[in-house]
Amino acid sequence: MAHGKKITGFVIFCLTIFMAATAMAKMPGPDPKELWEHITKTSPYTQWKFWDDHKGMLEGDEPHGSFHKVYVNDIAYGSSSVPLEYGAIEVKENYNKKEKLMAITVMYKVKGYNPEAGDWFWVRYSPKGKAKPYGKPKGCVNCHSGAADNDFVFVHEFK
Ligand code: HEC
Repeated sequence: MAHGKKITGFVIFCLTIFMAATAMAKMPGPDPKELWEHITKTSPYTQWKFWDDHKGMLEGDEPHGSFHKVYVNDIAYGSSSVPLEYGAIEVKENYNKKEKLMAITVMYKVKGYNPEAGDWFWVRYSPKGKAKPYGKPKGCVNCHSGAADNDFVFVHEFK
């Protein structure tokens, strides 16, 4: 029956490759609508993890707002050193003093998108998903360049 086992093994192997390939194919392009669809429907960010050193609602700095939560997808969470792996997404909910959700800012690592600045695609969404600004906004990139040696990430330190 060794033959049967080999076939089973091969089928499982093929299925694994197939599933990995479809999971990758599902990643959105550097497009605000596709990314919103991904983070709210395909893989709702509210079910993602927090960095171990940055959990839940925390106080923040301008310009993002008084309080925030930073969610990270599995690809980001699994990146133990810089640069983060392609496909990494960080979603930051920004709240005002009264803890009302004001904006959702996102960084999404896309291969070849912006090699000069870590290949991050940046978006600021309204709570309802209206994107403005997005792409490579100078504001986001310049300020986050202060953390360029940490792959433009402020809230979590990589080793
Ligand atoms: C003036 C500086 C500044 C600008 C401009 C800025 N950020 Fe940030 N950003 C920060 C700081 C500081 C943090 C750390 C959390 C905090 O204090 O709010 C942060 C955190 C983040 C995070 C969580 C991951 C991380 O880096 O720690 C995301 C996502 C993010 N910013 C996206 C954006 C986007 C998108 C824009 C442009 C629309 C933007 N930021 C503009 C300073 C800035």
